Amino acid sequence: MQPKYVLGCETSCDETSLALLEIREGYKVNVLFHKTASQVAVHAPFGGVVPNLAKREHQKNLPILWDLLDAQIKEMDISPDYMCVTVGPGLEPALWQGISFFSDIHKKRYPDIPLIGVNHLEGHLYSFLLHPFFQGKEDIKDMFPMISLLVSGGHTMLGVLFDIGSYTLLGETKDDAVGESFDKVARLLSLPYPGGPEIEAIASQGDINAYPFPSPLIHGDDFDFSYSGLKTAVLYQVRTLTDDSSQSFSPSSQRNLPKEVCADIAASFQYRAFLPLVTKTKKAVSMYKAKSVVVSGGVSANSFLKKLCEEECGSDDTSVFFPPFEYCQDNAAMIALSGYIEAEHNRGYPLQANGILGL
Ligand code: KG4
Ligand code: ZN
Repeated sequence: MQPKYVLGCETSCDETSLALLEIREGYKVNVLFHKTASQVAVHAPFGGVVPNLAKREHQKNLPILWDLLDAQIKEMDISPDYMCVTVGPGLEPALWQGISFFSDIHKKRYPDIPLIGVNHLEGHLYSFLLHPFFQGKEDIKDMFPMISLLVSGGHTMLGVLFDIGSYTLLGETKDDAVGESFDKVARLLSLPYPGGPEIEAIASQGDINAYPFPSPLIHGDDFDFSYSGLKTAVLYQVRTLTDDSSQSFSPSSQRNLPKEVCADIAASFQYRAFLPLVTKTKKAVSMYKAKSVVVSGGVSANSFLKKLCEEECGSDDTSVFFPPFEYCQDNAAMIALSGYIEAEHNRGYPLQANGILGL
Protein backbone atom coordinates (compact mmCIF):
# COMPACT_ATOMS: atom_id res chain seq x y z
CA MET A 1 0.00 0.00 0.00
CA GLN A 2 1.18 3.50 -0.84
CA PRO A 3 1.49 5.63 2.33
CA LYS A 4 -1.48 7.87 3.01
CA TYR A 5 -1.01 11.45 4.12
CA VAL A 6 -3.60 12.58 6.66
CA LEU A 7 -4.25 16.04 8.10
CA GLY A 8 -5.90 16.34 11.54
CA CYS A 9 -7.51 19.24 13.40
CA GLU A 10 -8.65 19.26 17.05
CA THR A 11 -10.48 22.15 18.76
CA SER A 12 -13.04 20.44 21.02
CA CYS A 13 -11.96 22.03 24.29
CA ASP A 14 -8.94 24.08 25.31
CA GLU A 15 -6.20 22.77 23.01
CA THR A 16 -5.80 23.93 19.40
CA SER A 17 -3.94 21.19 17.57
CA LEU A 18 -2.97 20.37 13.98
CA ALA A 19 -1.16 17.30 12.69
CA LEU A 20 0.08 15.66 9.52
CA LEU A 21 0.60 11.89 9.57
CA GLU A 22 2.09 9.49 7.07
CA ILE A 23 0.27 6.18 7.58
CA ARG A 24 1.47 2.87 6.15
CA GLU A 25 -0.06 -0.60 6.17
CA GLY A 26 -0.76 -1.97 9.68
CA TYR A 27 -1.27 1.55 11.08
CA LYS A 28 2.43 2.32 11.06
CA VAL A 29 2.53 6.05 11.62
CA ASN A 30 5.16 8.66 10.96
CA VAL A 31 4.16 11.93 12.63
CA LEU A 32 5.42 14.53 10.12
CA PHE A 33 3.92 17.52 11.94
CA HIS A 34 2.21 17.85 15.29
CA LYS A 35 1.72 21.10 17.16
CA THR A 36 -0.66 21.97 19.97
CA ALA A 37 -1.32 25.44 21.37
CA SER A 38 -2.51 25.01 24.95
CA GLN A 39 -4.94 27.51 26.46
CA VAL A 40 -4.37 26.44 30.06
CA ALA A 41 -2.92 29.83 31.07
CA VAL A 42 -5.93 31.67 29.56
CA HIS A 43 -8.51 29.63 31.50
CA ALA A 44 -6.54 29.16 34.74
CA PRO A 45 -7.73 32.41 36.40
CA PHE A 46 -11.33 31.18 35.96
CA GLY A 47 -10.68 27.75 37.48
CA GLY A 48 -12.02 25.98 34.37
CA VAL A 49 -12.54 26.30 30.61
CA VAL A 50 -14.59 29.35 29.53
CA PRO A 51 -16.29 28.41 26.19
CA ASN A 52 -16.16 31.85 24.57
CA LEU A 53 -12.52 32.37 25.48
CA ALA A 54 -11.76 28.91 24.07
CA LYS A 55 -13.48 29.86 20.82
CA ARG A 56 -11.51 33.12 20.57
CA GLU A 57 -8.21 31.36 21.23
CA HIS A 58 -8.90 28.69 18.59
CA GLN A 59 -9.74 31.44 16.10
CA LYS A 60 -6.42 33.12 16.89
CA ASN A 61 -4.27 29.96 16.99
CA LEU A 62 -5.56 28.01 13.99
CA PRO A 63 -4.07 30.28 11.26
CA ILE A 64 -0.76 30.45 13.12
CA LEU A 65 -0.50 26.66 13.38
CA TRP A 66 -1.72 26.25 9.79
CA ASP A 67 1.07 28.49 8.43
CA LEU A 68 3.62 26.23 10.13
CA LEU A 69 1.94 23.07 8.85
CA ASP A 70 1.56 24.48 5.35
CA ALA A 71 5.27 25.31 5.23
CA GLN A 72 5.98 21.67 6.11
CA ILE A 73 3.54 20.39 3.43
CA LYS A 74 5.25 22.55 0.81
CA GLU A 75 8.76 21.70 1.91
CA MET A 76 8.03 17.96 1.76
CA ASP A 77 5.95 18.33 -1.42
CA ILE A 78 3.09 16.30 0.03
CA SER A 79 -0.44 15.89 -1.37
CA PRO A 80 -2.75 15.00 1.51
CA ASP A 81 -5.16 12.06 1.01
CA TYR A 82 -7.61 12.93 3.82
CA MET A 83 -8.51 15.88 6.02
CA CYS A 84 -9.97 14.98 9.43
CA VAL A 85 -11.58 17.31 11.95
CA THR A 86 -13.15 16.75 15.39
CA VAL A 87 -16.94 17.28 15.30
CA GLY A 88 -17.74 16.30 18.91
CA PRO A 89 -18.19 15.84 21.74
CA GLY A 90 -16.94 19.09 23.26
CA LEU A 91 -17.77 22.78 23.41
CA GLU A 92 -19.82 23.57 20.32
CA PRO A 93 -18.46 27.10 19.71
CA ALA A 94 -14.94 25.64 19.93
CA LEU A 95 -15.78 22.68 17.66
CA TRP A 96 -17.25 25.02 15.01
CA GLN A 97 -13.95 26.91 14.82
CA GLY A 98 -12.09 23.79 13.74
CA ILE A 99 -14.85 22.60 11.41
CA SER A 100 -15.15 25.96 9.59
CA PHE A 101 -11.39 26.43 9.40
CA PHE A 102 -10.76 22.99 7.90
CA SER A 103 -13.82 23.26 5.61
CA ASP A 104 -12.37 26.51 4.22
CA ILE A 105 -8.96 24.99 3.57
CA HIS A 106 -10.62 21.94 2.07
CA LYS A 107 -12.59 24.11 -0.35
CA LYS A 108 -9.69 26.33 -1.34
CA ARG A 109 -6.81 23.85 -1.42
CA TYR A 110 -7.94 20.22 -1.47
CA PRO A 111 -11.52 20.05 -2.80
CA ASP A 112 -10.96 16.58 -4.27
CA ILE A 113 -10.02 14.70 -1.10
CA PRO A 114 -12.46 13.51 1.62
CA LEU A 115 -13.04 15.81 4.60
CA ILE A 116 -13.92 13.47 7.46
CA GLY A 117 -15.77 14.30 10.69
CA VAL A 118 -14.14 12.58 13.69
CA ASN A 119 -15.52 11.58 17.07
CA HIS A 120 -13.08 12.94 19.68
CA LEU A 121 -13.68 9.90 21.92
CA GLU A 122 -12.68 7.51 19.13
CA GLY A 123 -9.55 9.64 18.77
CA HIS A 124 -8.65 8.86 22.40
CA LEU A 125 -9.67 5.22 21.87
CA TYR A 126 -7.18 4.79 19.00
CA SER A 127 -4.38 6.91 20.49
CA PHE A 128 -2.72 3.69 21.70
CA LEU A 129 -1.63 3.04 18.12
CA LEU A 130 0.85 5.91 18.51
CA HIS A 131 2.57 4.05 21.38
CA PRO A 132 6.10 2.91 20.38
CA PHE A 133 5.16 -0.68 21.29
CA PHE A 134 2.37 -0.82 18.70
CA GLN A 135 4.45 1.06 16.13
CA GLY A 136 7.18 -1.56 16.49
CA LYS A 137 4.86 -4.57 16.39
CA GLU A 138 4.48 -6.37 13.05
CA ASP A 139 0.91 -7.55 13.68
CA ILE A 140 -1.26 -6.06 16.42
CA LYS A 141 -4.08 -8.63 16.13
CA ASP A 142 -2.92 -10.61 19.15
CA MET A 143 -3.46 -7.54 21.40
CA PHE A 144 -7.27 -7.93 21.09
CA PRO A 145 -9.66 -8.05 22.84
CA MET A 146 -8.39 -4.83 24.36
CA ILE A 147 -9.99 -3.06 27.32
CA SER A 148 -9.91 0.70 26.85
CA LEU A 149 -10.25 3.06 29.81
CA LEU A 150 -10.71 6.70 28.83
CA VAL A 151 -10.22 9.15 31.70
CA SER A 152 -10.26 12.88 30.94
CA GLY A 153 -11.69 16.18 32.11
CA GLY A 154 -14.92 15.52 30.24
CA HIS A 155 -15.16 11.71 30.07
CA THR A 156 -14.84 8.54 32.08
CA MET A 157 -15.55 5.50 29.91
CA LEU A 158 -14.74 1.84 29.76
CA GLY A 159 -14.95 -0.03 26.46
CA VAL A 160 -13.78 -3.17 24.73
CA LEU A 161 -12.11 -3.18 21.31
CA PHE A 162 -12.37 -6.41 19.35
CA ASP A 163 -10.34 -5.04 16.44
CA ILE A 164 -9.55 -1.68 14.87
CA GLY A 165 -12.95 -0.23 13.91
CA SER A 166 -14.96 -2.58 16.16
CA TYR A 167 -15.71 -1.72 19.77
CA THR A 168 -18.45 -1.73 22.41
CA LEU A 169 -18.96 0.79 25.19
CA LEU A 170 -19.24 -1.07 28.52
CA GLY A 171 -19.92 1.81 30.88
CA GLU A 172 -19.41 5.48 31.62
CA THR A 173 -19.83 8.06 34.34
CA LYS A 174 -23.34 8.87 35.52
CA ASP A 175 -22.35 12.40 36.55
CA ASP A 176 -18.93 14.08 36.80
CA ALA A 177 -15.88 12.90 34.88
CA VAL A 178 -12.93 11.78 36.97
CA GLY A 179 -10.67 14.65 35.73
CA GLU A 180 -13.45 17.12 36.49
CA SER A 181 -13.58 15.84 40.08
CA PHE A 182 -9.80 16.37 40.38
CA ASP A 183 -10.24 19.94 39.12
CA LYS A 184 -13.06 20.62 41.62
CA VAL A 185 -11.26 19.12 44.61
CA ALA A 186 -8.15 21.11 43.66
CA ARG A 187 -10.21 24.32 43.82
CA LEU A 188 -11.39 23.34 47.29
CA LEU A 189 -7.78 22.95 48.37
CA SER A 190 -6.85 26.29 46.75
CA LEU A 191 -4.72 24.59 44.10
CA PRO A 192 -4.50 26.06 40.58
CA TYR A 193 -6.25 24.77 37.44
CA PRO A 194 -5.88 22.16 36.00
CA GLY A 195 -6.14 20.35 39.31
CA GLY A 196 -5.03 16.83 38.31
CA PRO A 197 -1.25 17.33 38.30
CA GLU A 198 -1.49 19.51 41.46
CA ILE A 199 -3.47 16.87 43.37
CA GLU A 200 -1.07 14.16 42.22
CA ALA A 201 1.93 16.17 43.42
CA ILE A 202 0.64 16.85 46.94
CA ALA A 203 -1.00 13.41 47.26
CA SER A 204 2.45 11.83 47.08
CA GLN A 205 3.14 13.38 50.52
CA GLY A 206 -0.15 12.21 52.05
CA ASP A 207 -1.77 9.12 53.57
CA ILE A 208 -4.33 7.36 51.31
CA ASN A 209 -6.22 6.09 54.35
CA ALA A 210 -6.36 9.35 56.33
CA TYR A 211 -9.95 10.06 55.24
CA PRO A 212 -12.22 7.11 54.35
CA PHE A 213 -14.06 8.83 51.48
CA PRO A 214 -16.60 6.67 49.59
CA SER A 215 -15.80 4.99 46.26
CA PRO A 216 -19.26 5.04 44.63
CA LEU A 217 -20.48 2.16 42.42
CA ILE A 218 -17.30 0.22 43.10
CA HIS A 219 -19.15 -3.04 43.78
CA GLY A 220 -21.94 -2.61 41.18
CA ASP A 221 -22.54 -5.31 38.55
CA ASP A 222 -22.22 -2.79 35.74
CA PHE A 223 -19.24 -0.86 34.37
CA ASP A 224 -20.54 2.61 35.24
CA PHE A 225 -18.86 5.25 37.39
CA SER A 226 -19.93 8.17 39.57
CA TYR A 227 -17.84 11.00 40.98
CA SER A 228 -20.29 13.52 42.35
CA GLY A 229 -20.68 11.74 45.73
CA LEU A 230 -16.93 11.51 46.26
CA LYS A 231 -16.47 15.17 45.36
CA THR A 232 -19.24 16.17 47.81
CA ALA A 233 -17.73 14.01 50.58
CA VAL A 234 -14.47 15.93 50.17
CA LEU A 235 -16.39 19.24 50.30
CA TYR A 236 -18.05 18.21 53.59
CA GLN A 237 -14.73 17.10 55.05
CA VAL A 238 -13.08 20.42 54.17
CA ARG A 239 -16.05 22.31 55.64
CA THR A 240 -15.79 20.33 58.89
CA LEU A 241 -12.06 20.96 59.13
CA THR A 242 -12.37 24.68 58.47
CA ASP A 243 -15.71 25.53 60.09
CA ASP A 244 -16.73 26.87 56.69
CA SER A 245 -20.37 26.54 55.72
CA SER A 246 -19.84 27.37 52.02
CA GLN A 247 -21.66 24.93 49.73
CA SER A 248 -19.63 25.53 46.64
CA PHE A 249 -16.40 24.45 45.04
CA SER A 250 -15.33 28.08 44.63
CA PRO A 251 -11.65 29.03 45.06
CA SER A 252 -11.02 29.00 48.78
CA SER A 253 -7.63 30.51 49.54
CA GLN A 254 -9.11 31.85 52.76
CA ARG A 255 -9.46 28.33 54.08
CA ASN A 256 -5.73 27.91 54.60
CA LEU A 257 -5.73 24.26 55.58
CA PRO A 258 -2.34 23.05 56.84
CA LYS A 259 -0.20 21.50 54.09
CA GLU A 260 -0.18 18.04 55.69
CA VAL A 261 -3.99 18.03 55.92
CA CYS A 262 -4.28 19.00 52.23
CA ALA A 263 -1.84 16.23 51.32
CA ASP A 264 -3.90 13.64 53.27
CA ILE A 265 -7.15 14.84 51.68
CA ALA A 266 -5.59 14.75 48.21
CA ALA A 267 -4.11 11.26 48.74
CA SER A 268 -7.35 9.83 50.18
CA PHE A 269 -9.43 11.42 47.41
CA GLN A 270 -7.10 10.27 44.63
CA TYR A 271 -7.07 6.70 45.94
CA ARG A 272 -10.89 6.50 46.21
CA ALA A 273 -11.24 8.12 42.76
CA PHE A 274 -9.00 5.47 41.17
CA LEU A 275 -10.32 2.38 42.98
CA PRO A 276 -13.52 2.03 40.87
CA LEU A 277 -11.54 2.59 37.64
CA VAL A 278 -9.07 -0.13 38.47
CA THR A 279 -11.66 -2.55 39.92
CA LYS A 280 -13.96 -2.31 36.90
CA THR A 281 -11.11 -2.47 34.39
CA LYS A 282 -9.91 -5.63 36.11
CA LYS A 283 -13.43 -7.08 35.97
CA ALA A 284 -13.66 -6.30 32.23
CA VAL A 285 -10.26 -7.92 31.62
CA SER A 286 -11.43 -11.15 33.17
CA MET A 287 -14.87 -11.07 31.52
CA TYR A 288 -13.44 -10.58 27.99
CA LYS A 289 -10.18 -12.48 28.54
CA ALA A 290 -8.46 -9.32 27.36
CA LYS A 291 -4.95 -9.45 25.98
CA SER A 292 -4.29 -5.79 26.69
CA VAL A 293 -5.48 -2.74 28.60
CA VAL A 294 -5.02 0.81 27.30
CA VAL A 295 -5.57 3.86 29.48
CA SER A 296 -5.93 7.23 27.71
CA GLY A 297 -7.14 10.80 28.36
CA GLY A 298 -5.50 13.52 30.45
CA VAL A 299 -5.85 11.67 33.79
CA SER A 300 -3.71 8.82 32.42
CA ALA A 301 -0.74 11.14 33.03
CA ASN A 302 -1.12 10.20 36.70
CA SER A 303 1.68 7.86 37.80
CA PHE A 304 -0.28 6.51 40.79
CA LEU A 305 -3.07 5.42 38.43
CA LYS A 306 -0.45 3.81 36.20
CA LYS A 307 1.02 1.89 39.13
CA LEU A 308 -2.42 0.69 40.33
CA CYS A 309 -3.45 -0.39 36.81
CA GLU A 310 -0.20 -2.24 36.17
CA GLU A 311 -0.40 -4.01 39.54
CA GLU A 312 -4.10 -4.87 39.41
CA CYS A 313 -4.87 -5.37 35.71
CA GLY A 314 -1.55 -6.51 34.22
CA SER A 315 -0.39 -10.14 34.10
CA ASP A 316 1.56 -12.54 31.87
CA ASP A 317 -1.56 -12.72 29.66
CA THR A 318 -2.56 -9.04 29.75
CA SER A 319 -0.27 -6.10 28.97
CA VAL A 320 -1.09 -2.60 30.22
CA PHE A 321 -0.30 0.46 28.07
CA PHE A 322 -0.42 4.19 28.63
CA PRO A 323 0.04 6.13 25.35
CA PRO A 324 2.89 8.70 25.41
CA PHE A 325 1.73 11.81 27.28
CA GLU A 326 1.72 13.97 24.14
CA TYR A 327 -0.94 11.64 22.67
CA CYS A 328 -2.87 11.14 25.94
CA GLN A 329 -4.05 14.71 26.12
CA ASP A 330 -6.24 16.27 23.44
CA ASN A 331 -4.24 16.26 20.22
CA ALA A 332 -4.67 16.29 16.45
CA ALA A 333 -2.49 13.23 15.76
CA MET A 334 -5.11 10.92 17.31
CA ILE A 335 -7.82 12.76 15.33
CA ALA A 336 -5.99 12.24 12.01
CA LEU A 337 -5.49 8.56 12.85
CA SER A 338 -9.10 8.04 13.90
CA GLY A 339 -10.35 9.83 10.75
CA TYR A 340 -8.16 7.57 8.64
CA ILE A 341 -9.68 4.51 10.36
CA GLU A 342 -13.17 5.90 9.66
CA ALA A 343 -12.29 6.44 6.00
CA GLU A 344 -10.92 2.89 5.74
CA HIS A 345 -14.28 1.62 6.98
CA ASN A 346 -16.21 4.00 4.69
CA ARG A 347 -17.56 5.88 7.67
CA GLY A 348 -17.33 9.36 9.10
CA TYR A 349 -19.41 11.69 11.25
CA PRO A 350 -21.49 14.58 9.85
CA LEU A 351 -19.54 17.83 9.57
CA GLN A 352 -21.53 19.57 12.26
CA ALA A 353 -20.54 20.38 15.83
CA ASN A 354 -22.19 17.91 18.20
CA GLY A 355 -21.43 18.77 21.83
CA ILE A 356 -22.87 15.53 23.20
CA LEU A 357 -21.69 13.00 20.61
CA GLY A 358 -21.12 9.65 22.34
CA LEU A 359 -19.21 6.46 21.54
O1 KG4 B 1 -7.81 14.64 28.03
P1 KG4 B 1 -7.62 16.02 28.60
O2 KG4 B 1 -6.34 16.73 28.29
O3 KG4 B 1 -8.77 16.96 28.14
C1 KG4 B 1 -10.12 16.58 28.13
O4 KG4 B 1 -10.74 16.71 29.19
O5 KG4 B 1 -10.58 16.09 27.08
O6 KG4 B 1 -7.82 15.88 30.19
C2 KG4 B 1 -7.72 16.98 31.08
C3 KG4 B 1 -7.98 16.47 32.48
C4 KG4 B 1 -8.10 17.60 33.51
O7 KG4 B 1 -9.27 17.40 34.28
C5 KG4 B 1 -6.84 17.42 34.36
O8 KG4 B 1 -7.01 17.85 35.71
C6 KG4 B 1 -6.63 15.93 34.27
O9 KG4 B 1 -6.93 15.61 32.93
N1 KG4 B 1 -5.23 15.56 34.57
C7 KG4 B 1 -4.87 14.77 35.61
C8 KG4 B 1 -3.46 14.71 35.59
N2 KG4 B 1 -3.01 15.45 34.53
C9 KG4 B 1 -4.12 15.96 33.91
N3 KG4 B 1 -5.62 14.16 36.55
C10 KG4 B 1 -4.96 13.44 37.49
N4 KG4 B 1 -3.59 13.35 37.54
C11 KG4 B 1 -2.81 13.96 36.62
N5 KG4 B 1 -1.49 13.87 36.68
ZN1 ZN C 1 -10.17 14.61 25.25
